[in-house]
Amino acid sequence: MAAIAVIGGGGYVGLAYAVAFAELGHAVTALDVDAEKVAALSEGRCPIFEPGLEQLLQRGLENDRLRFTTDYHVAIPDADFAFICVGTPAGPSGRADVRYILTAAQAVGRHARGHTIVVNKSTVPIGSVQFVTESLTEFAGTDTTFSVVSNPEFLAEGTAIHDIFHPDRIILGSDDVAAADRVAELYEPLGAPVLITDPRSAEMVKYASNAFLATKISFINEVAMICESLGADVSAVAQGMGMDKRIGPQFLRPGAGFGGSCFPKDVRALGSMARDMNLDATLLNAVLEINAVAHARIVDKLTRHLGDLQGTSIAILGLAFKPDTDDIREAPALYVIEQLLAAGANVRVTDPVALDRVAAIISGIT
Ligand SMILES: NC(=O)c1ccc[n+]([C@@H]2O[C@H](COP(=O)([O-])OP(=O)(O)OC[C@H]3O[C@@H](n4cnc5c(N)ncnc54)[C@H](O)[C@@H]3O)[C@@H](O)[C@H]2O)c1
Repeated sequence: MAAIAVIGGGGYVGLAYAVAFAELGHAVTALDVDAEKVAALSEGRCPIFEPGLEQLLQRGLENDRLRFTTDYHVAIPDADFAFICVGTPAGPSGRADVRYILTAAQAVGRHARGHTIVVNKSTVPIGSVQFVTESLTEFAGTDTTFSVVSNPEFLAEGTAIHDIFHPDRIILGSDDVAAADRVAELYEPLGAPVLITDPRSAEMVKYASNAFLATKISFINEVAMICESLGADVSAVAQGMGMDKRIGPQFLRPGAGFGGSCFPKDVRALGSMARDMNLDATLLNAVLEINAVAHARIVDKLTRHLGDLQGTSIAILGLAFKPDTDDIREAPALYVIEQLLAAGANVRVTDPVALDRVAAIISGIT
């Protein structure tokens, strides 16, 4: 049993891992700066919707394997491992904004005692392991040491708990192979293949994977557009393509384009890293462009069928960026709502779990 601190333990990734590590028998302290989330979680109430999460949360609390705090002094000094799971939203140029990582690493450094293995699960720009190491040591005591391991995360919202317990692979990047081995041991009960590599390659696996999946979505959306003009049924086309094992059926569903907190920001961030190195990321730019067109085509189609949208009533079924989550970050529905309101339509919306989040940021809809 290890003592594990999860920084950002109230978020989609951090909370799912906090409950999962508790379920695997570890002593977990989940730390978040959001006091409201910490208060709710301490009482067994889940501030986000994710299937299966609340049950595991309650079990972890009942078994005394899981606690929540806003205080680094409570979470860090006794931790063998500190998992950093804070957000890395897109900055103005598309580059990932790493300020939360920086603050978290400095705070871990300030409160750590002895040796701590710091595991970075957040999606971070290539090379971040260096500034994380520097931030950890900036305010650390002289007898404090760290090993830093990059451990990108691949869970999907809506299936997060299943994904954590049945991962396709565990990717670990570190210059300290012994530390990477210790992190690998935490995952051993899951029986997944482990790839240990250098930190930069590990960080890149995450960006390249998300960019590839986003590319599949934009690809099928472009094919959908061509199918519509030529009288082919894109659903049948996607089904037929997916039967080829080399292609696979996943991420070939045409629609309003991808959204969510990862694909758009990670594709932009990878493109921005390429630009920083004076490289042309032609394919990534096209993926984003096609995605914007996929959003816009929903309203174009409505206009084609209904004419002027002024005064029409349009219902939108589903607001989150995909089923089984309440996450509305960069959800295509928000873009469609905005366009419909601008065109003067009466917009009525529904969603099993994301309604409150949309009501909090958009007015003038039913
Ligand atoms: N959401 C996903 O499906 C997913 C999947 C794979 C990877 N990721 C990556 O994981 C990271 C986290 O994503 P998320 O969706 O869980 O974000 P999130 O916004 O849901 O959670 C981040 C949490 O960190 C907390 N936080 C911020 N600064 C902190 C600090 N200094 N100390 C302690 N807590 C702090 C926030 O209050 C928040 O609760 C991102 O880098 C993201 O790209 C996300």
